[in-house]
Amino acid sequence: MRENYLERHRLPLKLKPIFVGQLSIVDGLGHSAYAFKDGVFEEVLKAHEGITPDFIKQYAGEESSEIYIHEEDYKYLHGNLSQKLVKLTRSLSIGDPLKNATRHTHLLSLQMANLYEDPFNDELLNSQFQSGQNLSNLLIKNKHTHKHLYRSISKQGHHYTVTQPLLSSLLLLSFLQSTGLFSEKETQTLFMTSYFKDIGMSFIPREKFELAHLSDFDKKIFSEHADNSMKILNGRVPLGANQLELIKNHHYLNYKIQALANNEKYQPQGLITGVESALLSALDILVAMTSERPYREGASVFKSLELLKRVLADEHPQEFKSLVHFLKHFFGK
Ligand SMILES: [Fe+2]
Repeated sequence: MRENYLERHRLPLKLKPIFVGQLSIVDGLGHSAYAFKDGVFEEVLKAHEGITPDFIKQYAGEESSEIYIHEEDYKYLHGNLSQKLVKLTRSLSIGDPLKNATRHTHLLSLQMANLYEDPFNDELLNSQFQSGQNLSNLLIKNKHTHKHLYRSISKQGHHYTVTQPLLSSLLLLSFLQSTGLFSEKETQTLFMTSYFKDIGMSFIPREKFELAHLSDFDKKIFSEHADNSMKILNGRVPLGANQLELIKNHHYLNYKIQALANNEKYQPQGLITGVESALLSALDILVAMTSERPYREGASVFKSLELLKRVLADEHPQEFKSLVHFLKHFFGK
């Protein structure tokens, strides 16, 4: 009895939270999995019980799609995922590019969620960077996949903190390519800069992402994520000083919007008004506005462009025009 009692009370120490969708790559777990309901851990999956798509669907639809698994299963899940990514990465050029890109983005999103949990894990960061680069190569070579891939990523059901940077980076890459003004290398670098720009979100407690209204303190934590992303990445990934500066300032158009709403003059901080910075920030806003959040519906592309016009067209009128043209095709039938 005593042993059971101890086991039971030690259990929370060995449990780690994951999003239930992360279980989609394994058939079962070595230990039970739990949901945290009304202050207690409730077993939702027994050890070695088969994981079905229905089980995942059921929990993914819940208010909090988080479940808790044993630390040994957590390690197994990590290892299994990185093996799968390496394997897929090696065969990306073989077969249907859209299918490959869809599978690749799904695995990448699962690994991004792990990286948000453990941002100082070098092995994880390197693996994510490598895989992101491989994805950008695939995308650059297969323009025809972008539109369909955007839709499939939106439906993959990953948490929006993971989906948002991927969708905005895909849109950025597709737009840069459509202009014909950027080299492949520049396009790839901007894709990677955009994809890693939100990694500083890892310092924000998870429950904050589900809130419709934030306290002043919460707003401060959110506003620090860009700076934190830059600090997390600095010296650990092959992104240069310019790219890190873009990451640090990737919300500058949001601040411009805020200043406009408050009838204040926007005061830029540092040298941030290059066209790359504007596009990266603009597409991030567009994807955020048009995507659903747990606390609100997504807006239309038209409505988002109306807002963007006020902060982008003044400094970059030509790019804004091209962007409108591009998005009409991208989101059109
Ligand atoms: Fe951000």
